[in-house]
Amino acid sequence: MSSSAPASASAAASAQAAGPLSPVQVRAARAADLDALVKLETQCFQGDRLSRRQFRYMLSRAQAALLVAVDRATAETVPTPLLGYVLVLFNRATSVARLYSLAVAAAARRRGVGRALVAAAERATWDAERAYLRLEIRRDNIASQRLFEGLRYRRFGVLSDYYDDHMEALRYEKQLSPHAAQPPARVPFYEQTLDFTCGPSSLMMAMHALDPSVTLDPQAEFRRMARYGRAGLQAVVLVSLPAAVARPAAVPDTHG
Ligand SMILES: CC(C)(COP(=O)(O)OP(=O)(O)OC[C@H]1O[C@@H](n2cnc3c(N)ncnc32)[C@H](O)[C@@H]1OP(=O)(O)O)[C@@H](O)C(=O)NCCC(=O)NCCS
Repeated sequence: MSSSAPASASAAASAQAAGPLSPVQVRAARAADLDALVKLETQCFQGDRLSRRQFRYMLSRAQAALLVAVDRATAETVPTPLLGYVLVLFNRATSVARLYSLAVAAAARRRGVGRALVAAAERATWDAERAYLRLEIRRDNIASQRLFEGLRYRRFGVLSDYYDDHMEALRYEKQLSPHAAQPPARVPFYEQTLDFTCGPSSLMMAMHALDPSVTLDPQAEFRRMARYGRAGLQAVVLVSLPAAVARPAAVPDTHG
């Protein structure tokens, strides 16, 4: 991440949990949020801050997602007080997006705002058809390391002398996949009734995993054998079995 040492303002340990009833709402940043973004940046980072001009550029830039967290209760207030923000940069040439900055107002910390922002950043990344999200975290930023490790980010490298004060950066990455959080579908077992109906039986099992209304009985087994023949069935099974084992699902709406 771009920013250097987090500012030392102590986190208010509000015990309010984030969840389905969370009062936190994440939305795209607007021009009217500029003042609040700059204020948040000043509050949260001691150096390497994003300037007003940079924030403005990120707002209009197609290759970035700038998202803000607001309290639902004050969401319509103008200007809206911000609980936090996250900035993701996309590169046209790669499927890897970069989580460039994340900040939560000191008074709003430990309420799940950081998690909600990262979840929204992941959704924006997936929507932009990028499959990986990467970031750097200062070695001395334990809060951020815990946050991202808890969200299944993998540490994969170290960049020495990375920040203004020569602190090294730990590199983290997460592969975003709509399948990742999804347990594999259960593939039922159907025992073939004849020596030569292995293909139809396998196909029926795979199809049943995708669509439970597909029947598993000898009649269906013979019907499929008659319809496709042996070679055709092998091809159909090869295509449908992986789909049955990793059933597609939507990217989760929120992170816990
Ligand atoms: C890091 C930061 C974004 C976390 O935001 P947050 O809203 O407080 O995070 P959450 O409430 O969603 O916390 C999620 C988890 O992160 C970890 N975490 C957050 N703050 C922590 C802290 N001070 N110490 C240890 N773990 C912490 C915990 O595992 C926490 O889960 P828990 O509350 O169930 O224990 C926030 O502290 C911040 O803005 N810091 C200053 C700027 C900064 O460092 N940005 C990140 C740069 S890489």
